[in-house]
Amino acid sequence: MTAKILDGKLVSGKLIERVRRATDAQFERGARRPCLAVVLVGDDPASAVYVRNKRRACERAGIESRDYDLPHDTDDKALLMLIDRLNTDDSVDGILVQLPLPAHIEESAVTNHISQRKDVDGFHAANVGSLALRQPGLRPCTPRGVMSLLRYYGIDAKGMHVVVVGASNIVGRPMSLELLLEGSTVTIAHRFTRGLEDHVRRAELLVVAVGKPGIVQSDWIREAAIVVDIGINRMSDGRLRGDVDFASACERAEWITPVPGGVGPMTVATLMRNTAEAAGVFVDFP
Ligand code: GUN
Repeated sequence: MTAKILDGKLVSGKLIERVRRATDAQFERGARRPCLAVVLVGDDPASAVYVRNKRRACERAGIESRDYDLPHDTDDKALLMLIDRLNTDDSVDGILVQLPLPAHIEESAVTNHISQRKDVDGFHAANVGSLALRQPGLRPCTPRGVMSLLRYYGIDAKGMHVVVVGASNIVGRPMSLELLLEGSTVTIAHRFTRGLEDHVRRAELLVVAVGKPGIVQSDWIREAAIVVDIGINRMSDGRLRGDVDFASACERAEWITPVPGGVGPMTVATLMRNTAEAAGVFVDFP
């Protein structure tokens, strides 16, 4: 079997177009454009690239972006004060603080300080809790983007046996909650899981979100499975690779996301959607 591609670059472009249409319509009715505050602390090169992509996407989506680039030695008090200011600023609809933060700042204190209504990353404990209780509000971008990508291609995960490899707060856990909400049967594998191979072999839909190339071997993949690779790994030659070896996985999977060009662009486009929705602009998309 040669897998069909879940083309995140294509679908994210369509989602951004939909956001653009919705924000333009709102603007023409006399409302201001939605506004996203993007906060970057320190000079991690990968984070700088992600933030640049997010700011560029705002332009395409008809969303105003405001930049807050803070030095590495910013203390938690100063960061929380900035968030206070953005929380009470009525011209700001969404607040994004790029993770990871420098080690001296506690991330959960920061993500839980952002107003729940402006939490376009969906990382606030109350927003994750709402998703867990089947009352979704603002939801984490990567998992929501994966669900949109699957729906766009007509893939219905209801009743499917899904294995999610990775249980991080920002991807693996909320991914599992999205799938549970969809009606999938979900196995979550993590660093303490024994016999990972046996779990992976049973997956009709396999989602890998670890950040370690080769964590899942291609010959473990069930014939005709759907493979969603959320890993982004910078190799020594400078190229980006996923957690799964793409070429060999294509021989077994029915559908697969490439890296780059799969889940990454869907995350950014979903951030645009969440920002529009935080501003009260509904976006109709799978
Ligand atoms: N770091 C890696 N992924 C993300 C994300 O989706 N949002 C934020 N804020 N930081 C990240």
